[in-house]
Amino acid sequence: MRVAWGISGAGHLLLESIEVLEKLKDKHEIKIFLSSAGEEVARMYGVLERIGSFPLVRESKQGHSFPSCGAFNLGKFDVFVISPATSNTVAKIRLGIADSLLSCCASQALKSRVPLILIPTDSKPVVETKAPNGEIFKIYPRKIDLEHLEALRKEGVVVLDHPYDVEKALERFL
Ligand SMILES: Cc1cc2nc3c(=O)[nH]c(=O)nc-3n(C[C@H](O)[C@H](O)[C@H](O)COP(=O)(O)O)c2cc1C
Repeated sequence: MRVAWGISGAGHLLLESIEVLEKLKDKHEIKIFLSSAGEEVARMYGVLERIGSFPLVRESKQGHSFPSCGAFNLGKFDVFVISPATSNTVAKIRLGIADSLLSCCASQALKSRVPLILIPTDSKPVVETKAPNGEIFKIYPRKIDLEHLEALRKEGVVVLDHPYDVEKALERFL
């Protein structure tokens, strides 16, 4: 399959997302769309080089109208996965805002009927996660973050708990 994979600026589920990407690399044609925050955060977690081994679109190198998102309108991808998806990117997608690389790609994907799979970082009332220095801490996603996910599900967006579930979910769109 031709898979577009968005990486937003989240530390949570970042390493697991890259692990899955590396596993799927030989089976699918994958292009990564990396938000500017994603680039910074990946550098902090020491995984930017691994991401750089894929065909890559960097938000930091795009113009304000995100020309690379046009590929979704032109049928170049079979599916768009965003993993990890920050609460910021999820909120924008839910509300129809398209002013960042990933929210614009998601907007074009949805408007062109390309299936969208999200693996949000803020998916349950309590999330335990790890800082770049290895320190473990908890976050408590807001009600609005969880409501966004519910609304997106109702719209037909596939929302998964973990990047490890992506491989199976892709089978639906073969
Ligand atoms: C080290 C680090 C880790 C972060 N992890 C998360 C996260 O797991 N989830 C989240 O929603 N935001 C996280 N953020 C905040 C986002 O990077 C920030 O909201 C950014 O504006 C998101 O932009 P994007 O959605 O375009 O990638 C993190 C920030 C830093 C510096």
